[in-house]
Amino acid sequence: MNFEDEDRLISPVLEDVQEERMENTLRPKTLEEYIGQDKVKENMKIYIEAAKKRGEPLDHVLLYGPPGLGKTTLAGIISNEMNSNIKITSGPAITKPGDLAALLTNLSEFDVLFIDEIHRLNKSVEEILYPALEDYTLDIMIGKGPSARSIRLDLPKFTLIGATTKAGSLTTPLRDRFGIVHRLELYNEKDLATIIKRSAKILEITIDEASSTEIARRSRGTPRIANRLLKRVRDYASVLGDGNIDLKITKIALNHLEIDEMGLDEIDRKLLETMIMKYKGKPVGLETLATTIGEEVDTIEDVYEPYLIQIGFIGRTPRGRIPLEAAYKHMGFAYPED
Ligand code: ADE
Repeated sequence: MNFEDEDRLISPVLEDVQEERMENTLRPKTLEEYIGQDKVKENMKIYIEAAKKRGEPLDHVLLYGPPGLGKTTLAGIISNEMNSNIKITSGPAITKPGDLAALLTNLSEFDVLFIDEIHRLNKSVEEILYPALEDYTLDIMIGKGPSARSIRLDLPKFTLIGATTKAGSLTTPLRDRFGIVHRLELYNEKDLATIIKRSAKILEITIDEASSTEIARRSRGTPRIANRLLKRVRDYASVLGDGNIDLKITKIALNHLEIDEMGLDEIDRKLLETMIMKYKGKPVGLETLATTIGEEVDTIEDVYEPYLIQIGFIGRTPRGRIPLEAAYKHMGFAYPED
């Protein structure tokens, strides 16, 4: 994905080292502390307990869903709950089979290997992964030409946690090797408000109930965005007020940041306006939309669309995307009744 405007406040993608550091301080360490995603949590709790009881590693886990929902956080929690270590990497970072072999042979029994953006693994690397996942073995070729031979190494029993925004882009043989598959959902307002209050406490920020709800409502169901907005609102509170966050300051800050009542930014609005005005509410394909507003298809599909669908602004039809009545209303257009 290519996010050209690095300062976009509602980008659910990690922005910089500083933000990563902040996320690390805010990251819950146990399932108990992890807010929301109740179904995933309940299931994981059982699988973890069962694996521990049997003295076996946890089955391989695939987590998918939009960015910023806590896939890395959850992987960290799983390894913590299994009392094991986690090694974190990503699909594009593993460029050749040898890179993966090095990672795998350095694991200890029950360790978690977390591969973010696992749909971006290249084919030759992916093929090394199959026997590693299936029987904890590694087949590697030694030498070249006629004297080349293949040797088989035993690996420690480990757990792979793969994360992706695009479960549909995984090859079938890879997807089939995950025993546990969970989709992370966008968070509801209540859970997000709880996350904001928890973060505020850790960062020693005073915030009232109404303000946490207001920030939650404008965070597009995404904890990463909620935490980022919390920090920005704190800046406003310390300059315009006494540092405490109240509703008045929250609204001033969020309006200044051009995040509207529903958490939409300029690009969301451009997208909706294009669908309503230019395409007259008729079904339009993602590629066409992307070209029209000058964004990448992936960005629209993974970042914008999930939230707009969740709040009932966009619908999917076999012939393309359509704007729904709520979107017309929000954008101040009359809804064509026919
Ligand atoms: N910070 C980010 N995501 C979180 C979550 N799900 N629970 C608690 N804190 C979080």
